[in-house]
Amino acid sequence: MAPTDMAVIDMEGNQPHRPVLLDEALHWLAVKPGGRYVDCTLGRGGHATAILRQGGQVLGLDADPTAIRETEGGLATAFPGSGPAGGPPFIIVQAYFDRLEAVAGEQRFAPVDGVLFDLGVSSPQLEDAARGFSFSKEGPLDMRFDPSQGEPAETLVNHASVDELARIFRDYGEEPQARKMARAIEAARAIEPIRTTARLAEVIERAAGGRGRIHPATRIFQALRIGTNRELARLQSALEQAVRILIRGGRLVVISFHSLEDRIVKTFLAQEARSCICPPHTPVCICGHQATVRILTRKPVTPGSAEVAANPRSRSAKLRAAERI
Ligand SMILES: C[S@@+](CC[C@H](N)C(=O)[O-])C[C@H]1O[C@@H](n2cnc3c(N)ncnc32)[C@H](O)[C@@H]1O
Repeated sequence: MAPTDMAVIDMEGNQPHRPVLLDEALHWLAVKPGGRYVDCTLGRGGHATAILRQGGQVLGLDADPTAIRETEGGLATAFPGSGPAGGPPFIIVQAYFDRLEAVAGEQRFAPVDGVLFDLGVSSPQLEDAARGFSFSKEGPLDMRFDPSQGEPAETLVNHASVDELARIFRDYGEEPQARKMARAIEAARAIEPIRTTARLAEVIERAAGGRGRIHPATRIFQALRIGTNRELARLQSALEQAVRILIRGGRLVVISFHSLEDRIVKTFLAQEARSCICPPHTPVCICGHQATVRILTRKPVTPGSAEVAANPRSRSAKLRAAERI
């Protein structure tokens, strides 16, 4: 795979960061000029820029209005009027990606040649204290990708029962001391509601008895973010929709950053690649399920040491790809 020197273009035409597994994503998407690709997690537009540079057309979705605003300007400057009928070769829509099928239909962009997901939170989101994604920056406990929809993380933290919090920490954070952390939150919020990232991090650190190599709030913040944005349910639904809008031979590429996401992707692809999903030992097939994809990556593709050294955040990335049949 020849490395590309493509990276995100910002409003000033600068290239401040290189997206994770960029060459690999382009390779597995098999981008072809004139092809249609949905980037379900537009972010700063790094992957989308690379697809556009290879002559693809892009429908870019992101739930985050700030990401949409900042990326739209950069793309408009970089790719003016080179799409069909002289318009720009991209369409940008602010939406959670579990609206993929509806948005692609509304934009008359389906069927498509490829669908890309680069899941999770972006560096600009983590760095913006006001978004509340990071325990190392004091800010409100918000964590919504789209701050105009749903309830902020603060609502869960201050109003969910101990059982509910423990379930969230266990299921979405794989936190071994889920109940202990939930109880610590219950005790702290009884004194005063927990409104900031810093106070929550402090409560968790005290309950954990200090910091280890990884801050004890890491798993708790991940769990709250996943719960607040219903990330896993949205991913499951979006994967199903992606397969439905792909043409035969079209590609689905998913980059995930933690085991829960990767498990959903792996299980989904394994199921979609099978022609019968009846329980084992069922004598005759009763499900009627037909395989819809061929898995292209037997094992997940991971970044090389050079990428991890240049961008430590990429170290947990796993890419899986499949082809619609
Ligand atoms: C890791 S960043 C993507 C970075 C992007 N590939 C780039 O090159 O700049 C993930 C983006 O996905 C968005 N996102 C996460 N979950 C989403 C969802 N369910 N629906 C829509 N956007 C989502 C986030 O707002 C964030 O901007």
